[in-house]
Amino acid sequence: MTILNTIKNRRTVRDTKKDPISEEILMELLEVASYAPFHSKEEPWQFIMISEENEKEFYASKIVDSYERMELTETYTVEKIKKSVEFFKSYIIDTPMHLIITTDHTENEKKNLEAIGATCSFVQNLQLAAWEKNIGMVWRTNPYIFDQQFYKEMGIPVNRKILGALHIGYINTMPKVSKKRKNPREWTTKLGQNITLS
Ligand SMILES: Cc1cc2nc3c(=O)[nH]c(=O)nc-3n(C[C@H](O)[C@H](O)[C@H](O)COP(=O)(O)O)c2cc1C
Repeated sequence: MTILNTIKNRRTVRDTKKDPISEEILMELLEVASYAPFHSKEEPWQFIMISEENEKEFYASKIVDSYERMELTETYTVEKIKKSVEFFKSYIIDTPMHLIITTDHTENEKKNLEAIGATCSFVQNLQLAAWEKNIGMVWRTNPYIFDQQFYKEMGIPVNRKILGALHIGYINTMPKVSKKRKNPREWTTKLGQNITLS
């Protein structure tokens, strides 16, 4: 498979098998992904790995607490809350591996942009490398990643920013449809089209 094909064929995978992903394979993928470009002295990315049963239960309960705190379930009936919590907890437990993505975060806008850019490049590298091993993932940016109390409870310091979570496993259902991509000419303009050059 060429890199061009891998880039085009990769899909977000929302349905994975329950088979565990060994730490050895994950570390191999993370090592490859770490060849992403970064502009700071040290790599700006860090990941919190959640794969043990007790870690998953803790993670799921902290997300549920966060949603209650953020009053996201306020309009739900008691029955709907119960169902959503159960569904959510089993999703976290049944998915073999979760990675919370964090990046360096300071008061400096330029440094923050560079850290986010580098960490997003890392995540795409990881998705592409995993794809070659039949491992799929979904990058989720659910509301709890903006909840400061969630940071505290998960042991994430304030000088880091959560960019989302990756929910990872061997591909069960291959997604068929892909979001349509426009022709590059639709979102690329020549400078001379936008302004009058003197
Ligand atoms: C920054 C970012 C955040 C995303 N957040 C979510 C999310 O919260 N929930 C979700 O189901 N998918 C999420 N996705 C996955 C996108 O929906 C997915 O990439 C998009 O539909 C295109 O599909 P593809 O990855 O198969 O090309 C996210 C993707 C990115 C890049």
